[in-house]
Amino acid sequence: MSGHGTPIPMTSRKSGPLKGVADVPGDKSISHRSLLLGAMAVGETRVTGLLEGEDVLATAAAMQAFGAEVERLGDGAWRVNGVGVGGFAEPEDVIDCGNAGTGVRLIMGCMATSPITATFTGDASLRSRPMGRVTDPIALFGAQSYGRTGGRLPMTVVGAKNPVPVRYKTPMASAQVKSAVLLAGLNAPGETVVIEAEATRDHTERMLAGFGAEISVEDTGEGRVITLVGQPELKPQTIAVPRDPSSAAFPVCAALIVPGSDVLVPNIGLNPTRAGLFTTLIEMGADLTYENEREEGGEPVADLRARFSPDMKGIRVPEERAASMIDEYPVLSVVAAFATGKTEMVGVHELRVKESDRIDAMARGLEANGVTIEEGRDFMTVHGLGPDGVPGGGTAAARLDHRIAMSFMVMGMASQSPVSVDDGQPIATSFPIFEPLMTGLGATIERSTA
Ligand code: S3P
Repeated sequence: MSGHGTPIPMTSRKSGPLKGVADVPGDKSISHRSLLLGAMAVGETRVTGLLEGEDVLATAAAMQAFGAEVERLGDGAWRVNGVGVGGFAEPEDVIDCGNAGTGVRLIMGCMATSPITATFTGDASLRSRPMGRVTDPIALFGAQSYGRTGGRLPMTVVGAKNPVPVRYKTPMASAQVKSAVLLAGLNAPGETVVIEAEATRDHTERMLAGFGAEISVEDTGEGRVITLVGQPELKPQTIAVPRDPSSAAFPVCAALIVPGSDVLVPNIGLNPTRAGLFTTLIEMGADLTYENEREEGGEPVADLRARFSPDMKGIRVPEERAASMIDEYPVLSVVAAFATGKTEMVGVHELRVKESDRIDAMARGLEANGVTIEEGRDFMTVHGLGPDGVPGGGTAAARLDHRIAMSFMVMGMASQSPVSVDDGQPIATSFPIFEPLMTGLGATIERSTA
């Protein structure tokens, strides 16, 4: 798992124009869910385009430990033979989810309403993240959890023997929490209802419907009310995973800040609950266009074309957009440094409990590279230096966080002096081909010896 080996320091230098086609990997959120729902269906689910990053591979191993048959057939092609809702076996050993918050939280939901016990752990980043946001609602179904102080991993979850359905209003905008409750609701009798005040990524709802569950979504004054009828028989599916907009963000943002660039990033999932970064970049004046817009497997998809954009201006990113671009603030803060004026990011406190405290990680790394930033519990403001004005020359701490590492690698491609990260290993959790893909477009990324 990531972060367990010797650190791999990486440096990125000023690049010539980035040109070509960037084939980014499959969507991480949809990849996790394909394996989980495949494992809870009766029969064989086939998946193509699965992200084969460490996070998703950990989920594949976990589903095997819970009794599903999971087999890799070829590049991104997988077969899952499910055990049915409520059919999970008790794992014989501790489930190690590596760096994956989505993996561990959704799996806890999946097993919370089965009469089995499982113990979960992860890397140092995951062991520091709060699990109470999932163990609180699964307790309402009747599950018990025993973890470290502050609801930290390692943690043992004892699934409910006689689960009851739940009506739960999520206390924070979190697709992981919403999804954990819905997945737990699968094996409870009757209707489980989740209410979210702000819309978060809705892949779980879409995919549950695709697998044949009875699920409805209603927009009310209270927010999005999602109702799931428990104990369905999920029908196996054939899933083509769209490519990840959160991974596409890196070649797109690099192209916008590196002079002369013109990059095509094909087949990107543009579910409106995920596309906030691209809307923001266009508002900033980015030369970013959607080509060949279409629908694939129930998700909107397009090819993104990004060209060097020397006239980007800082904006205030609307708070209500935060959930739709929550993973993209690190790389947006890099783009903001190459824009003119300030970029204000507000309503972003959830960034503090991601793979790292992303506000602090970006602030310290940007400062080390000559960029001025203001930050508070819930906001981050970057003072842009213009397309040519970012000094660079510093080293950022990646803090076991893939998106922090990749963001600073993008920064180095257009700053005056090279930018380094102390450890590029975490990149493999979500974007294992990041280095060859970016160097194939013309970037210079070097691994240095520590
Ligand atoms: C995810 C939800 C988000 C996001 C994560 C993936 C998901 O987390 O940051 O990378 O697949 O449900 P939160 O639910 O904590 O916002």
